[in-house]
Amino acid sequence: MKTIVVGVTGSIAAYKAADLVSKLTKSGHAVHVTMTAAACAFITPLTLQTLSRHNVVTDPFALTGEWEPGHIALADRADLLLIAPASANTIAALAHGFANNYLTEIALATRAPILIAPAMNGKMWEHPATRENVEKLRARGVQFIGPEAGLLACGYEGIGRLWPVDDIIARAQEMLA
Ligand SMILES: Cc1cc2nc3c(=O)[nH]c(=O)nc-3n(C[C@H](O)[C@H](O)[C@H](O)COP(=O)(O)O)c2cc1C
Repeated sequence: MKTIVVGVTGSIAAYKAADLVSKLTKSGHAVHVTMTAAACAFITPLTLQTLSRHNVVTDPFALTGEWEPGHIALADRADLLLIAPASANTIAALAHGFANNYLTEIALATRAPILIAPAMNGKMWEHPATRENVEKLRARGVQFIGPEAGLLACGYEGIGRLWPVDDIIARAQEMLA
């Protein structure tokens, strides 16, 4: 059994995280979810908490009854940090080393491999700022899966859709092996 930290960010594709988390949990892994504030506008922490069978952390400053800072403990325990869906904003924060929410704090503190599944409008994905951020992260060894092309929720046709959940899981399993 491996420990997977799943970071969910503020993308319309956040509802697909329910399927992802459910399947990862059923495959026998310990799945710990953290959601950004924006992610909580798209899907409830209750859904992911129930499917992952672990508390979902959304607020890094919430009192938990544990003395140890939760993000460090989780960062140390993680065998993989999987961010799906990953917004343009979170990718930018990671590229620049920001630690302004629970997810980006874990990303800086962990030494586990990181897999990012982006989802966003095609113009956001193709923007030079996002391209640079992705290249910076790739150069640091962060792995990406997707996005794929197709009809986007924003109404555009193009690249930006979250990669199919089953393929994200397969890549995660490969990275854990
Ligand atoms: C309806 C709606 C859909 C959105 N979908 C996306 C998306 O798919 N990808 C993305 O990068 N941002 C999307 N955004 C914008 C993000 O939610 C916003 O940039 C937010 O600050 C991201 O915060 P986070 O990275 O902390 O989750 C969307 C916003 C709205 C209102």
